[in-house]
Amino acid sequence: MDSQFQITVFSNQPYDESFLRAAGPDLQWRFLPQPLTIDTVQLATGSCAVCVFVNDDLSAAILQQLQQLGVKYIALRCAGFNNVDLATAHRLGIRVARVPAYSPEAVAEHCVAMMLCLNRKLHKAYNRVRDDNFSLQGLLGFNLHGKTVGLIGTGRIGQATARILHGFGMQLLCFDPQPNPAALPPSARYVDLATLYRDSDVISLHCPLTPDSHHLVNQAALAQMKNGVMLINTSRGGLIDTKAVIDALKSKKIGLLGLDVYEQEADLFFKDLSEEMIADEVFQRLLTFPNVLITGHQAFFTQEALSQISQITVANLRALCSGDVCANELKA
Ligand code: NAI
Repeated sequence: MDSQFQITVFSNQPYDESFLRAAGPDLQWRFLPQPLTIDTVQLATGSCAVCVFVNDDLSAAILQQLQQLGVKYIALRCAGFNNVDLATAHRLGIRVARVPAYSPEAVAEHCVAMMLCLNRKLHKAYNRVRDDNFSLQGLLGFNLHGKTVGLIGTGRIGQATARILHGFGMQLLCFDPQPNPAALPPSARYVDLATLYRDSDVISLHCPLTPDSHHLVNQAALAQMKNGVMLINTSRGGLIDTKAVIDALKSKKIGLLGLDVYEQEADLFFKDLSEEMIADEVFQRLLTFPNVLITGHQAFFTQEALSQISQITVANLRALCSGDVCANELKA
């Protein structure tokens, strides 16, 4: 690959830069903190490739501008690609590659951390003890052992989550349009969505966001769930109809809610907004519930995952920019 090929990295954070530089020290990087939007797309001028993340906008109008600027390749440094208009990219001759698998355990472990934290109310206990308040009132949890968890999506992350929860002694109910029973532990069985909703004490989402799965968890789905169900979403915000979920929190249908992703997260996550007013009233309402735990899309954020993401992204860029076959290229 010609080392003169310039790669503009959008939505760069200091950790991205250090891991990407370590993986591709010979590449000509341009690191920009700005997300890729219609207002920032011109910053890709002079680059043959852009490297983007989950909330960068790769809709048709932006892809057209990228092509006019001479950008030929897009390297996603993430697994999900719901933010890319792939049909338009292919029509424009822009090749797109992603990082399909990088430490699924990173996301699975964060998902289980959210379950444990919510159940045992660690977020409250942490503050109480620092305030010399050792009362246990309000911290009562339940044993995960013997409970039933419903996993929606049993790909790499769903399987890693299943392995951990099997170890906890939970019963596993799974739903996936492409079942893979051989990859799951013995306590798992595939059921239809209605059965999963009806019988699960904990429900965790591990499927991609597609037109079919958009607002999968809506009012009708919530109505089928157990009263007081724990719902965890470490997948994509658009899988959940947030307003329906707020109603379900108010009616106590949802007892515990853990979100690492949020439908409108592009305006919030990965930034320090601590000095600003947050205008998103739906998000603000979510924060008022004591039984809601939100993290800012950090499930992937381990050293192992960042190292793998960077190495695969650099390998993808080398293949794309050399005109070689790229195993991680997204086809139409
Ligand atoms: P994967 O491609 O290995 O597995 C996805 C599974 O979901 C497949 O088995 C597929 O058949 C299934 N599926 C598709 N549509 C479905 C539906 N409507 N209902 C149930 N299952 C369905 O993907 P992987 O690596 O397990 O990742 C899953 C999702 O996790 C990604 O699409 C991404 O959105 C999210 N993710 C979140 C991260 C975070 O930091 N919070 C990091 C990485 C991924």
